Amino acid sequence: MSSSDKYAVFGNPIKQSKSPLIHAAFAEQCGQAMQYRAVRVELDAFERSVRNFFEGGGAGLNVTVPFKQQAFALADECSQRARRAGAVNTLYLSDEGQLYGDNTDGVGLVRDMVANLGWTLQGQRMLVLGAGGAVRGVLEPLLREKPRSLTIVNRTAEKARDLAAEFAELGAIDGGGYELLADRQFDLVVNATSASLSGDMPELPGSLLTARSCCYDMVYGAEPTVFMRWAALNTAWAVADGLGMLVEQAAESFYRWRRVRPATGPVINQLRQALAAA
Ligand code: ATR
Repeated sequence: MSSSDKYAVFGNPIKQSKSPLIHAAFAEQCGQAMQYRAVRVELDAFERSVRNFFEGGGAGLNVTVPFKQQAFALADECSQRARRAGAVNTLYLSDEGQLYGDNTDGVGLVRDMVANLGWTLQGQRMLVLGAGGAVRGVLEPLLREKPRSLTIVNRTAEKARDLAAEFAELGAIDGGGYELLADRQFDLVVNATSASLSGDMPELPGSLLTARSCCYDMVYGAEPTVFMRWAALNTAWAVADGLGMLVEQAAESFYRWRRVRPATGPVINQLRQALAAA
């Protein structure tokens, strides 16, 4: 690969994106000569922008909100996990010149929980809050870890039931409304509702957690989210935000593109320090 290898993330909005910083850190660490920039793409210009990027010699793209489903539709070929997710966050040209789509979000979440945080997933009772695009993207990698059960609950119960039915062949999965949570306990709770972003969270019974439960919020910020504070108050054993997931999904994209696996720990620490100082 040459020093002119061009990468970018396409999204709208994009100003908040940490991807250029993360990939610059990976590139430096791994001695890879590459450029990576954040591009705000007009809502009606995604397909055209992707085609222009690759026709102009671009080597790889990340895709973020709100274009992940469009990226899936545009790709000539997709990984199985991207097909299950119905969404693509990583695009590149295959050796045959086909536009290939992958989704690294779920593997990023699993790797953060297992490799960075040291949490056990196998044999655990998992609960996922929310049933939107973010959840669809992580279900297959979560189920591949062989939990004892995986329950999806959502404000709109129907969406959780539909998702559970769609993924049923991959494991013991059920779904429904928040009333499903009465008198049940879970070893792992993942918050994937967008409520977190607005400082809100669904109402959860205090009896949901055991002294060994782990709680993960897929969003992150300078301060713990409302869900993380709830988890700590309800004596969760471990609580984490989604910063590690962000870096791990980027590392998996980087690996797809460059065939080199960067060390993520130093980059997570660097971002954490920058968040605290901001
Ligand atoms: P994303 O791509 O982040 O998943 P999404 O597809 O818009 O975004 O999904 C948002 C999720 O957060 C949905 O599961 C939504 O519940 P509904 O399907 O009932 O809309 C959930 N959500 C958003 N605000 C919420 C709130 N205040 N309480 C509970 N769930 C909420």
